Amino acid sequence: MLAPPFSFSAFVALSLVPLAQAHPIENPVESRLPTRWFHHEDHPVHALFRRGDNGEQFEEPGSPAWTDAYPVLTPNATAMPQAWKDALKAAEDAGKIPRIPQSKSDGDDPVYPKGVDPESPEVCSTTPKCRQPDDIWDAPAGYFGTGFDDGPYLGSSMLYDFLEEKHIGATHFMIGMYIRADPATFVRAFNMEGADIAVHTYSHLYMTTLSNEDVLAQLAWTMQIIHDTTGGRVPRYWRPPYGDADNRVRAIAKEVLGMQIIMWNQDTEDWSMGQTGGTTKEQIAKSMSQWLAGPKTTGLIVLEHELNNATVQAFIDAVPEIEANGWKMVSQARLADGDLDNGQAGVWQNAADSTGDVNPMSVGDSAVGPAPTATENDNSNPDETSGADDAGATTDPDNHSATGEGDDQSGSLSSFSQPSLPSCLALFATLISLTLA
Ligand SMILES: *[C@@H]1O[C@H](CO)[C@@H](O)[C@H](O)[C@H]1NC(C)=O
Ligand SMILES: *[C@@H]1O[C@H](CO)[C@@H](O)[C@H](O)[C@H]1NC(C)=O
Ligand SMILES: *[C@@H]1O[C@H](CO)[C@@H](O)[C@H](O)[C@H]1NC(C)=O
Ligand SMILES: [Zn+2]
Repeated sequence: MLAPPFSFSAFVALSLVPLAQAHPIENPVESRLPTRWFHHEDHPVHALFRRGDNGEQFEEPGSPAWTDAYPVLTPNATAMPQAWKDALKAAEDAGKIPRIPQSKSDGDDPVYPKGVDPESPEVCSTTPKCRQPDDIWDAPAGYFGTGFDDGPYLGSSMLYDFLEEKHIGATHFMIGMYIRADPATFVRAFNMEGADIAVHTYSHLYMTTLSNEDVLAQLAWTMQIIHDTTGGRVPRYWRPPYGDADNRVRAIAKEVLGMQIIMWNQDTEDWSMGQTGGTTKEQIAKSMSQWLAGPKTTGLIVLEHELNNATVQAFIDAVPEIEANGWKMVSQARLADGDLDNGQAGVWQNAADSTGDVNPMSVGDSAVGPAPTATENDNSNPDETSGADDAGATTDPDNHSATGEGDDQSGSLSSFSQPSLPSCLALFATLISLTLA
């Protein structure tokens, strides 16, 4: 059975695809649900990823034809599809992509050229927690937004076993080159009950350090491999590696690709376990207890990873406490939809100004509403404006979480360092050699 967003004609077209090209488009769990992590089929951004003239044809995940269609590591922007370059150029020409200088990073927090203030409304860097109305940082009161970064990876099997057994839905912020390296695990995530897929870029770089073209290539190639491996679904949400984005990067994701950022309001720093100076499972448990025993307003979006079994175990260890404290666990991508199973409103967006209340309105609706009639590249709803346009309407960076902050971990959103790419690549090489062994 196909998901409602896919038309009958698409169904017929796909039914005619020879078996050799069959792929996991049947997704009985997702098919009962409205569009959530992926755009409605009418959304114009599909034009950038559609392949084939007469209905879509998809290669078998893991087959040579599938594997050869994607970059191995960091994509070469010069070689990306012309349609993507044209879409970027159109957005730039329309003034939708703010001209903010690229930052530099030597593996630590990115640094902008002298005179560029990352906290200014024009730049609004996520590293010092500058928020835009379109960003998702918080969950509604009483909700624990569930999600994991950096899959499919070494902790994924253990995590998926647990999520399946406990019927817990989560958002998986996937890395494109890891999907290419481990399509079976990706497909397992896609088919899991309640699982949602989101974009975590192709090779996990600091996005504000990249040119517009390279930002686009990082996002679009990840969207392409997800699209091609999920029967043509185009993701609506992404999370910047190291939490590094600004108005320029936001606008490329939003205006060209129709994607919105999901950040977090608490950080376990689980990735650093086992590293010199890294956190410990005891420290994670202590932070979790503090957040979970605290007030339910604002709800929690906790940064966690499916990097390895230890990071997964840290989540598993917290689940009894999440339940005992009465938190409702919901996949982060569904917090925004406003159609949570119990009828609750969607995610808490930012206040319009530094004193207003946060709104329980549904940002996700704009993305799944009637298809915009404007040009193919204008993915924005009339009610929504680009990051650039909203630059004046920020935010209350220090007052997002009413309580529960207090120890030195919770205030540390600015020290997002995750494994640097070299250490990710070392793990990646291990994965490859394990796979080949
Ligand atoms: C990137 O792609 C272009 C166009 O295909 C090619 O000329 C160039 O050599 C590539 N650069 C690298 C570093 O592979
Ligand atoms: C992680 O857990 C998975 C599934 O439980 C198991 O197959 C794998 O061997 C574990 N990895 C390590 C390094 O212990
Ligand atoms: C922070 O939020 C609280 C509760 O909403 C409010 O009373 C207080 O004035 C806010 N503080 C600032 C600095 O905005
Ligand atoms: Zn990451």
